[in-house]
Amino acid sequence: MEKTIIVTGGAGYIGSHTVVELIAQGYKPVIIDNFCNSEKSVVKGLESITKKEVKLYEGDCTDRNFMAQVFAETNPSGVIHFAAYKAVGESVSKPLAYYKNNVISLLVLLEVMKEVNCNQLVFSSSCTVYGTPEKLPVTEQSPTQKAISPYGNTKQIAEDIIKDQVVSDADLSAVALRYFNPIGAHPSGLIGELPLGTPSNLVPFVTQTAAGLRNELTIFGNDYNTPDGTNVRDYIHVVDLAKAHVKTLDYLSGKTNFYDFINVGTGKGTSVLEIVTTFEKVSEQKLNYKIGQRRPGDVEQIYASVDKSEKVLNWQTELSVEDALRDAWNWQLKIG
Ligand code: UD1
Repeated sequence: MEKTIIVTGGAGYIGSHTVVELIAQGYKPVIIDNFCNSEKSVVKGLESITKKEVKLYEGDCTDRNFMAQVFAETNPSGVIHFAAYKAVGESVSKPLAYYKNNVISLLVLLEVMKEVNCNQLVFSSSCTVYGTPEKLPVTEQSPTQKAISPYGNTKQIAEDIIKDQVVSDADLSAVALRYFNPIGAHPSGLIGELPLGTPSNLVPFVTQTAAGLRNELTIFGNDYNTPDGTNVRDYIHVVDLAKAHVKTLDYLSGKTNFYDFINVGTGKGTSVLEIVTTFEKVSEQKLNYKIGQRRPGDVEQIYASVDKSEKVLNWQTELSVEDALRDAWNWQLKIG
């Protein structure tokens, strides 16, 4: 029998790519999404890619009655919890919205999981919990630092809540995946990132600029202590990241009263300028850009140690930054 996995935020960027990989590995994903930052057309894209009907419940993860109903109807064996707000800057101007959405949804989810005896959870966390790391690459032993944005704080609080719940619950097993920078789109061009308004993330800004939707990219600072002076990040293809979630379900299988956190990156740092030049190469487009001021709150450089993910998840990235930028551009051309 196919195992049912609830995917909250399954119509979103990382969630939708994970739904594809779940189906490829024989799981039955059930999406919960309120479409606050995604579109219904994503479900059609998923069905075209997978040639399967994808079950969707439209609603809000903070709505306890709705959540209880979905869990009662679907009897899932596990949950991958993506649904959350994710814009760092917006979280500074709307902290209550961020705490309410990101923290309350998790509390409701854990309560409802307990009620129906659903005992496996994969949680979307972020490398933002490490703040400005002292040593690179960042291992899971690296200390976490006080979050500088409400968004980052919701990820730290959520990890603590999950850890505490596992201590109190003999049946529960959970893993927080600390993502580095997901980029790219499905190679089919049928799903990808759909940023609302002006993108704050680098790659959608790059592809929109090349498509003529934005005048010019501003590179936020070239006076950092890095090889070319621009920030360094660990950009991971969203399809590789999606596969890591399926591997995490395998890792959780058979475990009880268990909590772990794992970095999910490529292990390789790439600078903002390298993203620009690689994009120009793979897209054969000249990108209009200028060097601007540093963006407040940006970490100089961060990239993951992949030792733990390789060892415990038996997972490795298969795609490169070039692949990701090519797929992101292909997606941009499709959505116009
Ligand atoms: C941050 C968080 C990440 C979070 C994500 C959500 C860290 C280390 N990472 O990623 O956890 O999930 O936000 O949005 O805190 N850049 C430009 N010009 C632009 C846009 C970006 O130069 O117009 C540069 C940034 O300065 C940065 C890099 O591109 O160096 C990547 O930026 P972005 O895509 O916003 O991601 P992070 O800030 O790394």
